[in-house]
Amino acid sequence: MKKTLTIGNIQVPNQLILAPMAGYTDSPYRRCCKKFGVGLLYSEVISSLGLVFGNKKTFEMMKFHPDEHPISLQLFGNSPDKMAEAAKAGEQFGFDLIDLNLGCPAPKIVKNGAGGELLKDPMKLPELFRTVVQAVSIPVTIKMRVGYQPEANVVREVAIMAEEAGIQAIAIHGSTVIQNSLGSRQWGPIREAKESVSIPILANGGIKKPSDILTLLEETKADGVMIGRAALGRPWFFRDCLAILEGQDPYKIDHHAIDTNEMFAVIQQQIEWMLECKGEVTTIREMRTHLHHYLKGFPESSQVKDKINKTKNLEELRNILRTYKNTFFAL
Ligand SMILES: Cc1cc2nc3c(=O)[nH]c(=O)nc-3n(C[C@H](O)[C@H](O)[C@H](O)COP(=O)(O)O)c2cc1C
Repeated sequence: MKKTLTIGNIQVPNQLILAPMAGYTDSPYRRCCKKFGVGLLYSEVISSLGLVFGNKKTFEMMKFHPDEHPISLQLFGNSPDKMAEAAKAGEQFGFDLIDLNLGCPAPKIVKNGAGGELLKDPMKLPELFRTVVQAVSIPVTIKMRVGYQPEANVVREVAIMAEEAGIQAIAIHGSTVIQNSLGSRQWGPIREAKESVSIPILANGGIKKPSDILTLLEETKADGVMIGRAALGRPWFFRDCLAILEGQDPYKIDHHAIDTNEMFAVIQQQIEWMLECKGEVTTIREMRTHLHHYLKGFPESSQVKDKINKTKNLEELRNILRTYKNTFFAL
């Protein structure tokens, strides 16, 4: 049964959320997912210091299109004051929510005491939460992992602290920081959090096929499902999940293949949107990684990916895709 989701004063039209994924979930890709019905979007993780000190690249990464609302700005950092300042700037920029990253394992983030490192010492978190919550009038959420290391489950403790400090929703990736994305299916602790607080819990980790969302919602009793890797090169994954939430046969949806004409149209749209905001050189470079996902499993895709990797020209990229489509997918 399709339900909506309310986070503070923000109405999310359904329970489906695109996970923030650095290097992928930029505005053009998010807009593709939005076309297929995703309810809530997050920015890629943004440095609070970069924002506070006016770094040009940081502001470029924050840009979003009016179609993307509701959209959350995800921040990383470890100084409550700087995170609060960055959150204020994010609110002024037009974001609907602020999210604090408590899970990123990337060395350049944890070595500065931010991201997943924050879970090592949960006692410091209430000050961070309160300072950011008090600085803005939009809802503040957190995205966390189960703990830093396997034997250190801090979900319940952090969830209670977060709710007490005014945090309005918690996304929980069911793995620990040092596991990275391995073991992404620790869904028990997500249910523990759901039983401990009354703010919305967004369950994340290990969704591979659309019907997995039913199992995740059932096992965790979460209010929403956050989907990451399964939607890479498959923005229509959200349409399939919505169909299941609307009561369509999960088996049929899981085994339904995308119409390749539609797939190539989505790719073309993503290229056009990326070109508008990033220019030709970046579009060619960044579309390579997206195309790697789009074309996975299709005939002779490794040969076409090889050609895509070598091209330095957008017209050539379009030609490669056109020829590939006409050779293998013409009716
Ligand atoms: C390439 C990549 C980049 C990611 N970047 C972020 C990020 O910027 N912020 C964040 O909170 N999580 C990030 N994550 C973690 C995802 O948001 C998500 O929690 C994780 O992939 C598990 O969900 P999944 O099993 O549905 O992919 C990233 C994951 C991947 C694969």
